[in-house]
Amino acid sequence: MTMTPHLRKFALTAHITSSVGWFGAVAGFLALAIAGLTSQDAQRVHTAYLAMELTAWFVIVPLSLASPLTGVVQSLGTPWGLFRHNWIVAKLLITIPATLILFLHMRPIGHLAAVVAETTLAKGDLAGLRIQLVASSGAALVVLLVATALSVYKPGGMTWYGRRRLNEQGVAGEGRCRELTTSTQHWVDVCGIIAIVLVLLFVILHLMGGGLGGHTGGHRH
Ligand code: HEM
Repeated sequence: MTMTPHLRKFALTAHITSSVGWFGAVAGFLALAIAGLTSQDAQRVHTAYLAMELTAWFVIVPLSLASPLTGVVQSLGTPWGLFRHNWIVAKLLITIPATLILFLHMRPIGHLAAVVAETTLAKGDLAGLRIQLVASSGAALVVLLVATALSVYKPGGMTWYGRRRLNEQGVAGEGRCRELTTSTQHWVDVCGIIAIVLVLLFVILHLMGGGLGGHTGGHRH
C-alpha cells in the first residue's frame, strides 16, 4: 500500500527524528560512560551511572524501537519496499542486531546503577563492565553512522527479489528506483560489507568476552 505524499512526509519525519535521535542519544550515553570510567570524582561517577540508566530506558530504548518500526512503515508504504534495495536490507541487518544487543545490555546497566546507588565505586571496581559499556556504545555509534550514511547516499543496487519484482511490474512508474538501480552499484557492496562486518565483529567480540552474563557475574574486580 503506497502512502499519500503528505502521509509519506509525516512518516519520514518520524523516521528521521527517531533514527538520528537514537544516534544522538547514544553519543550522550557514550559521554556518560567515559565520565563514569575515567572520573576521579565519586559524585560524578555516581551521577553518570544513574543518568546512563535513565537515558537508556527512557530515550535509547524507545528510539531503538521507533527507528526500525518507522523504517519498516516507510519501506512498505513507499515504492522502496523492504527487501528490494540492498541499502534497505543493509539497514535492516544493522538495526535489528543493534536493537537486540542494546536489550542485552539493559541488565548490566541496571546492575551498575544499583551498585552506585548503594555504594561508592573505586577506580578498579567493575572495571570490565564499565569498559564494556564504553566500547559497546562507541561501536553502536559507528554502526548508526553507517546506517545514516546508507540512508543519505542510498547506494544503488537491487536485491534479487527487487529485480524480479521490477521485471514483473515493468520499469514504467519506477522512475527513481530505476535510476538507483543503474547508478553506483558497487557502493552497496562496499557499504553493505562494511556494515555486516561491523555488526558481526560487534557480536563476536561480545561472545568472546563471555557474553553479557560476564558483566553481572563479577562484582568487584
Ligand atoms: C529497520 C530499519 C530501517 C528501515 C527498514 C529503514 C527504511 C528507510 C526507508 C525506506 C527510507 C526512505 C523513505 C522515503 O524516501 O520515503 C529511509 C530513510 C531514511 N532513514 Fe531509514 N530505515 C531503517 C533504519 C534507519 C536507521 C537506523 C537510520 C539512522 C540511524 C536511518 C536513517 C534514515 C534517514 C536519515 C533517512 C532519510 C534519507 C533521505 O530521505 O534522504 N534509518 N529509511
